[in-house]
Amino acid sequence: MYNLARSLLFKLNAEVSHELSLDLLAAGHRIGVNKIFTQPIASQPVELMGLTFPNAVGLAAGLDKNADVFEAMGALGFGFVEVGTVTPKAQAGNPKPRLFRLPEHQAIINRMGFNNKGLEHMVARIAQHDYKGILGVNIGKNLTTSVEDAVNDYLACLEAVIPFADYITANISSPNTPGLRNLQFGDSLAQLIAPLVTARDYYFDQTGKRVPLAVKIAPDMTTDEIRMVADTLQEQKVDAIIATNTTLSREAVKGHPFADEAGGLSGVPVREASTEVIRVLHEHLQDSLPIIGVGGIFSGKDTVEKLAAGAKLVQLYSGFIYRGPELIRESVESASAYYRQHAAK
Ligand code: FNR
Repeated sequence: MYNLARSLLFKLNAEVSHELSLDLLAAGHRIGVNKIFTQPIASQPVELMGLTFPNAVGLAAGLDKNADVFEAMGALGFGFVEVGTVTPKAQAGNPKPRLFRLPEHQAIINRMGFNNKGLEHMVARIAQHDYKGILGVNIGKNLTTSVEDAVNDYLACLEAVIPFADYITANISSPNTPGLRNLQFGDSLAQLIAPLVTARDYYFDQTGKRVPLAVKIAPDMTTDEIRMVADTLQEQKVDAIIATNTTLSREAVKGHPFADEAGGLSGVPVREASTEVIRVLHEHLQDSLPIIGVGGIFSGKDTVEKLAAGAKLVQLYSGFIYRGPELIRESVESASAYYRQHAAK
C-alpha cells in the first residue's frame, strides 16, 4: 500500500508530496482508516530519563514541525514522537525549492530553515491530545534572533511547552540557521544549556513534574570535539544526547545533480557518521548519559547497529519517508528482540 502511494507521491515536487502525505495521514487518522492498515506491533517498553517509552523507536524532529500529526504518527506504531523544531515566532523558512530527494542514494537534502507556525500554535496543539506515547518537543531560535541572544528564544520555548511535553530537545545542530551550530562549542554550549537546566529544575520544584532535557548534536565533529561536547553536557546535567542531525558532508553523493544544493544531507549517507558519533559518545560516557541514535536507519539491522553502538532509543526520518510504516514495524521488532536478548543475559 505504502509502495503504491510512494510511487505516486514521489512523482510530485518533494515539498508538495511531503505536505500532502502529512495531510492524508492526519485525515486517515481522524476518520479511522489508518487502523485498517496498521496491525499491533509486539513491543518491549524502555525506561529512560525517568520515562517509560512504549517501544524504542521514535519519529525524529522535523517531520511534524507544528505538532499537527503526532497522534496519527503515534498510531502508526512509533513509541515516541518528537515535534518541532519550534521557534518563538512563526517563520517562513528559506525560499523554495529547499527539499531534494536523492533516491539513488536513499537520501534527502534539506535547507528548510525552521519553517514553522510558532510557539503559540505548538502550545495550542499539544495542550490537549490523546496520544498515549511519549511526546518530545524540539526547540530552536528564530532566524532574526542573533546567536548571542539565542538563549532567550530557547528559554521562551522551553517555558511555554514544559507543561505539555514529556521531554524537550534543544536543537543546536541544524545547518540551516546561520551560526546555530557554533552553539555546540566552547563556552557557548555551557552558557546556553545552564539556564535551560535551571528552568527544567525550577519547573520540577514548582510542580513535581520532571521534564528531561535532551540536546541534539551534529555529525560533523572530530572525536575530540565530540568528547568535549559530551563532557560539557554531562557537567551541565542534561538528560540525554540525540545523535545526530543531518550532515554537511557531500562525500557520499558526489556527482549527483543535487549534491551541491546547500543544506543538510540525511538518510543512508549519514548512517555511518552518526553511528560513529554514538560510539564515541558511549565509549566516553558509558551509561552515565543516555544517547538517542538517529541517522540513516533504513532497516531492523540498522536499528540494532545503533543500539549496539550505545544508543538506548532510536529515531527515524529519511528511512520512514522512503520505506513508510513497514520500517516502524521492522525497527520496533528488531529493537524489542535486542532488548529481550540483552535483558535475558
Ligand atoms: C530534518 N531534521 C531536523 N532535525 C531537527 O532537530 N529539527 C528539524 O526541524 C529538522 N528538520 C528536518 C527536515 C527534513 C526535511 C529532514 C530530512 C531532516 C533532522 C532529522 O531529525 C534527523 O536528525 C536527520 O534527518 C538524520 O536522520 P535520518 O533522516 O537519516 O533518519
